[in-house]
Amino acid sequence: MKLFLKTVLLSAIVCLCYPLSAAPKSDDGKVSEKEIARRVETLMKKMTLREKLGQLTQLRPSTGTVTGPSGEPMVVEDFIREGCCGSLLSVRKSEDITRYQRIAVDSSRLGIPLLFGKDIIHGCRIVFPENLGLSSSWDMDVIEKSARIAAAESAAYGIAWTFSPMCDISTDPRWGRVSEGSGEDPYLGSAIARAMVHGYQGDDLADKSTIIACVKHFAAYGAPQAGRDYHTVDMSERMFRDRYLPPYRAAVEAGAATVMSSFNDFDAIPATGNKWLLQTVLRDELGFKGFVVTDYNAVHEMVEHGVAADGKEAAALAMDAHVNMDMVDSDFIKYGEELVREKRISEKTIDMLCREVLAVKFRLGLFDDPFRYGGKARENEFYLPENMEVARDAARKSMVLLQNNDDILPLNGTERIALIGPYGNSGDEMLGAWRGYGESSRAVTFLAGLQERFGRENVSFSEGCKPFAAIEGGADAAVAAARDADVVLLTLGLPSKCSGEATSLTSIEVPQAQRDLLDAVAATGKPVVVLLVTGRPMDIGYETEKADAVLLTWHAGTMAGKALADVVSGDFNPSGRLSMTFPLNIGQVPVHYNMKRTGRPMLDPASRAKYLSRYMFTPNEPRYCFGYGLSYTTFDYSDLKVLTPEVAVGEPVKVSVKVTNSGKRDGAEVVQLYIRDLVASTTRPVRELKGFERVFLKAGESKTVEFVIRPEDMAFCRRDMKFAQEAGDFHVWAGHDSNAELQGMFTVK
Ligand code: NOJ
Repeated sequence: MKLFLKTVLLSAIVCLCYPLSAAPKSDDGKVSEKEIARRVETLMKKMTLREKLGQLTQLRPSTGTVTGPSGEPMVVEDFIREGCCGSLLSVRKSEDITRYQRIAVDSSRLGIPLLFGKDIIHGCRIVFPENLGLSSSWDMDVIEKSARIAAAESAAYGIAWTFSPMCDISTDPRWGRVSEGSGEDPYLGSAIARAMVHGYQGDDLADKSTIIACVKHFAAYGAPQAGRDYHTVDMSERMFRDRYLPPYRAAVEAGAATVMSSFNDFDAIPATGNKWLLQTVLRDELGFKGFVVTDYNAVHEMVEHGVAADGKEAAALAMDAHVNMDMVDSDFIKYGEELVREKRISEKTIDMLCREVLAVKFRLGLFDDPFRYGGKARENEFYLPENMEVARDAARKSMVLLQNNDDILPLNGTERIALIGPYGNSGDEMLGAWRGYGESSRAVTFLAGLQERFGRENVSFSEGCKPFAAIEGGADAAVAAARDADVVLLTLGLPSKCSGEATSLTSIEVPQAQRDLLDAVAATGKPVVVLLVTGRPMDIGYETEKADAVLLTWHAGTMAGKALADVVSGDFNPSGRLSMTFPLNIGQVPVHYNMKRTGRPMLDPASRAKYLSRYMFTPNEPRYCFGYGLSYTTFDYSDLKVLTPEVAVGEPVKVSVKVTNSGKRDGAEVVQLYIRDLVASTTRPVRELKGFERVFLKAGESKTVEFVIRPEDMAFCRRDMKFAQEAGDFHVWAGHDSNAELQGMFTVK
């Protein structure tokens, strides 16, 4: 009873001290920034140095996800009570979120609410395709909706902060985290970054269904040497600004509330202690106003990097670089007071760091109602049927038809289908890495989806093998199933556990056990459609030789089976396009469409000349280029018109192109626009994407698509290091993929 009274009293005091609902609002109905700043200052005046450091500390409860050293065992409840914890990472159960929040609000001196963060990167309860898959949809609307739904479900679960979007450009499929990003291109990556931030954060953070985004991993985490996770990143500042920075910038400009500093070093200085990155670039140049959290344990890892002698020095480096929150290793709370006493960090710096964290908590409305996120009452907000349909749409739009010999797909609906392979009847394998609070039991398997669409009796299933091992009798059963059917749908690829963090590989081929299964099944002579389940580009030369068709399904999420059935039945005409190049073999890596020009280019792929930038025994061209993807119909391009053949610096360029659905089925095409700067003060890429539009065309229908290339789209890091446009001549291409042939020209004077 005594405890209850204390609880009620404290809650009342907290609400009286920080009521925001009654606070002055701006014209848009939101609490004004001025009012937030006032509230922050009032609160800060009451805080001890230790409590301020507490706000800069994110802890992991013992039941939270571990993605690195688990740190010293600690009772997080005690830290929360003492006001020494501002945020919790990856709390598993919704009821625990409420419990921890209750401790913070009722039992800590100032009752400052906790901020709960988690990696909700492609869905919370409803899981969408892994991000690389989503990006292959080139559909900003569906991507934004996926983030919107993820936010609403996270908020209902109790999570107000997602560590997404991952804006790391990567050109290396050895790096497993390519699955979490949007591929190799800065223009597409920027569009996706904007869509996701807007999806998560909406227009008002104080809305109970929006959550804050975290742009990660700042910076250049997607370029580790040799594709090995956490490895050194070393690139020129120019390359960084031209290719890697744009998506982070887009996300920051879209208003992302937080940014995560990355594990890697950048120009020999770990990002988490890199003042140039976190202050000069992020805040001074990009104008970021929120707060920076480190990646997991990244402060302390500066000791292992060899730039700090111990945790205390590491904490000083990070704070001085303008890191606001220390994820998991707790060096800030351990050493912060000492650092201030020794005058290595000023209290003013701590105040600034703390102020920025508190402002975000106020913007989220956490002081208004600390329990607004999560709670029993919100459980009915999961798995809403209309949201499940968005997941289905996202999944089918993400699938990329890579090969379709003799138009074997779509199926005509009368075939007996043998679904074979290790991923065909697994909900778990559909969810991929970082599946939020997704439940594999809710995932529609390929088998379930196909049986629902084609009839139970018409679809058999045989596992055949495990991802990396044969199973006894597996191949024989699969062969029998194939013989009994008219067509084989064979799932091959890499399991979820080979996707995401710490999953670097030196081979991106289909594992041998699965190849053996393919051999056995193909030997039956039955037509084989490979369903490629993967979170990264793979070398599938062997498979394309043996199979009739290849459909890249990715780890397609909760609605995988329904989406697959839509595509193979022809109910949905595939429209996915690669956002990352598929190499011919691993030796070509990194290979991407926007490579730089060289002094000895290999312009004619058939040339036998020696002293060119080429391989002796392998072509330069990848297996599937960026932007590639087939459809059940065909699209023709004509009438490329440069509407503004001459513009001044600072003026937009307009280009139009006619696209015609020249086949027999309705379908969507992703019309793509590329440019090349012919002569510039620095070497420029052979091509750069500068526009795209998804258009739906009925069979026989044509449409003229108009693109506007804005001056900022033509800007780059010039010889003088200014990021700006230069005058000159440009080629422009429009068409189906990054090999588009229809060409025009324009001049910027
Ligand atoms: C480590 C990962 O690099 C990062 O992406 C993630 O957000 C954090 N762990 C938190 O789980």
